[in-house]
Amino acid sequence: MVSTHPAGVQHSGSQYLPQTNPQNISLSPNQQLLPLTARVNNHDHLEIGGCDVTTLVEQFGSPLYILDEQTLRTACRQYQDSFKRYYKGESQVLYASKAWSCISVCAIAHDAGLGIDVVSGGELYTALSAGVNPDKIYFHGNNKSHQELTFAIESGCIIVVDNWYELRTLVEIATEAAGESPIRIMLRLTPGIECHTHEYIRTGHLDSKFGFDPNQLDDLFTFVSQQSIINCLGLHAHIGSQIFERQPHQDLAAVMMQWMNKAAGYGLSIKELNVGGGLGIKYTESDDPPSIEEWVKPICEVIQQASEANNLPLPKLLSEPGRSLIGTACVTAYSVGSSKVIPEIRTYVAVDGGMSDNPRPITYQSVYRAVVANRMSAPLTESVTIAGKHCESGDILIKDARVPKIESGDILVVIATGAYNYSMASNYNRLPRPAAVIVANGEANLILRRETYQDLIRQDCLPQRLKS
Ligand code: LLP
Repeated sequence: MVSTHPAGVQHSGSQYLPQTNPQNISLSPNQQLLPLTARVNNHDHLEIGGCDVTTLVEQFGSPLYILDEQTLRTACRQYQDSFKRYYKGESQVLYASKAWSCISVCAIAHDAGLGIDVVSGGELYTALSAGVNPDKIYFHGNNKSHQELTFAIESGCIIVVDNWYELRTLVEIATEAAGESPIRIMLRLTPGIECHTHEYIRTGHLDSKFGFDPNQLDDLFTFVSQQSIINCLGLHAHIGSQIFERQPHQDLAAVMMQWMNKAAGYGLSIKELNVGGGLGIKYTESDDPPSIEEWVKPICEVIQQASEANNLPLPKLLSEPGRSLIGTACVTAYSVGSSKVIPEIRTYVAVDGGMSDNPRPITYQSVYRAVVANRMSAPLTESVTIAGKHCESGDILIKDARVPKIESGDILVVIATGAYNYSMASNYNRLPRPAAVIVANGEANLILRRETYQDLIRQDCLPQRLKS
C-alpha cells in the first residue's frame, strides 16, 4: 500500500527536499533535512549542488560523503548576518571544527569570515594548514598536553583554559619561554545549566568534566589577575549539543554577564564572551529546532540588556556552532548489497558502510532518514532496517526506515551526516574511510580521498623478532 501524507501527497524520497523559494536563501539550513540545493532531476535521481548523486557514486565510489557548499556557506552567512543585525557590539562566529575537521571545510569557514574552534593539536594543525589566521583560532580541551600547549603558544592562537592544572602549566611554560607579549587566554567555566539532550553531549551542568567550577571564581579571578604573563581576554561556556530549547542559552548569556561583572571587581577587564555552540538540527520530520536567527537574537538581547543594566561595556560576542553549520550540508551515499528477510520479524538491507563512517546511531541511538537516490519518487511501500557491514549486531544505521522497494545496487542516501560523522569515523574492521566530495554549481571536487588498504597498514610496524 502506498503511504500518504496527511495532506494527501504521496510519500516519496522527495518529501525530504527543502521547502522551495527562488534560491533557498532565507531557509535556515538547520531546519531542513536535505541540503538546500537538493532536487529531483529528470531521471528521478537526487541531485545536490547540481550533481546527480548516482553519477557521483559511479565517479568516486561508495560510501561517499557529499558536502553541499551552498548549504554550508548559507549557514555561515546566516550566523554572521544575525549577529550583525541583533548585536550592537563586535561579534565573531567560530566554526567548531570538531564537527568536521578537514582543510577544505576550515578553508570555507575562514573564507566566509568565521574563526575556528579547535580542541587538539591535530585540529589546530588542520586549521593552520587551511590558512586560518591564529588570531581567529581558539584552542579548547580539558586535558591539553604540554606539547599541545607549547604548539598553541608558538602558533599564536588563543587558549581557552579549562582547569587549574592547565592554568598553572601554562603560566610555567610562558614564564620559561619569557616571550615578549603575554599569552592570550579565555577561561572556560561550567555554568550549571541543564538542557535536554543526550547525556553524553551535555556539558553545562555542574557534574561535567569541562571547565572551572563557578564556585571557585574568587580564587580563579584573584590568581589570573596576578599573572602578568597571561592576558585574559574573556570567558567561555558551552552547555551542550543538539539543543532545541532557547531558554538555556539565554540563561547562559545572563550568567556570563554576571561573571563578567564579578571579574571587573578583581581588576580583570573581560572583553570577550563566548557563549559556545549547541543549536540543534533537523534529523527527522518531527525535529523542530529554532532557526539560526531565532537562536542568535535572544542571546544578543540578553547580553545587551545586562550590559545596560549593570553599566558594563558590551563584550565582543563569540559563538562556536558546529552541527548547525555543517550538519545539513552533507549526506552519505551508500550502495545497497545483501538483504535478509526474516518473515514477520524484519527485513535487513545492508549497505557498504556503517558504524565506521557514522558512529552516531550506535553511540547515541541517533535517528536518521534516508532516500533511494536513483528512484526518488517511488512510493514508500516498505519498512526495512538499514544495516551496516560491520561484525557487530548493533551496527544499524536506521531501524524501520520507510523506503521504496530496495534492490541491490540501489544508492541509499542517509541525510544530515555533515556533523560528527567523518570526524568520528574509524577504521573498525579495517574498513578504509570513505571519500568526501564538495559539490557546487554542477561541479564535484574531492576534499578527502578514499583511504586505501595501504593507508590502513601505513602505521603498522612488524618488530624484527616477529618476522619469519
Ligand atoms: N563548543 C564546545 C566547547 C563544544 O564542546 C562543542 C561540541 C561545540 C562548541 C559545538 O557544538 P555544536 O554546535 O556542534 O552542537 N559527538 C556528538 C556531539 C558532541 C559535541 C561536542 N561538543 C554528536 O555526534 O552528537
